[in-house]
Amino acid sequence: MIQLKNVHKNFEGKPVLRGLNLEIYDGEIITIIGASGAGKSVLFKNIVGLMKPDSGEIIVDGVDITKLDEDELHKVQTKFGMLFQGAALFDSLNVYENVAFGLRRLTNMNEVQIKRKVAELLEVVNLSGTQNLPVSALSGGMKKRVGLARALATSPKYLLYDEPTTGLDPILADSINKLIVKVNKQLKVTSIVVTHDMKSGFEISHRIAFLSDGVIKETGTPDEIKNSKLEELRKFISLYFQ
Ligand SMILES: Nc1ncnc2c1ncn2[C@@H]1O[C@H](COP(=O)(O)OP(=O)(O)O)[C@@H](O)[C@H]1O
Ligand SMILES: [Mg+2]
Repeated sequence: MIQLKNVHKNFEGKPVLRGLNLEIYDGEIITIIGASGAGKSVLFKNIVGLMKPDSGEIIVDGVDITKLDEDELHKVQTKFGMLFQGAALFDSLNVYENVAFGLRRLTNMNEVQIKRKVAELLEVVNLSGTQNLPVSALSGGMKKRVGLARALATSPKYLLYDEPTTGLDPILADSINKLIVKVNKQLKVTSIVVTHDMKSGFEISHRIAFLSDGVIKETGTPDEIKNSKLEELRKFISLYFQ
């Protein structure tokens, strides 16, 4: 379980997170929605310890990661898989090397084991047999899926996705959504999605949290969010959910 308690983050005096509270339960898919610039990526980076809040607690399985030194933080970070906007792959490497990257860095697997694991992961993301393709030759949707396979390589407990469907056509977005659900169910990965893609949020999430003015203003099931009385959220939904 992850608990965010009274998290504040400013940039040059400009507040982005202003006392944010949120709980993320084991096994769920939670989508954090909010407008562009609301602070979703900043929140993402704070949760995984890539950015430190100015104040507040970020408790991962009982440990406040804001209080850890670098070595201790790196240990906790092995619990996280991350899929960044734009997938952030190594373009000069092939699919195999991209997926194997985390395994080489964080495990003692030998090449035979790595080979088997990469094949397994590529099967999960429906990319079997693409090991030798150069990443530069892949479509946007395929790159996302390679990024997902790489994020899954080290068997994370928590998987964070930053705008996984933004900029994809509806069919591709749908296939990524199906994968997020499949990975959550099949591998029992707690899944945290930050996005302004309301439609995807409604489709895949157990719970949705609405980020605005640096705090979570509402949380609930997709149905509860659709029926929220919060005027600002109703407006957001009508803007982003056609
Ligand atoms: N490293 C940074 N330095 C200064 N300002 C930042 C930094 N990262 C984010 N911001 C600012 O924080 C705000 C929220 O950004 P972000 O979390 O990227 O929004 P989004 O919800 O679109 O992901 C923006 O105003 C952005 O300019
Ligand atoms: Mg962002």
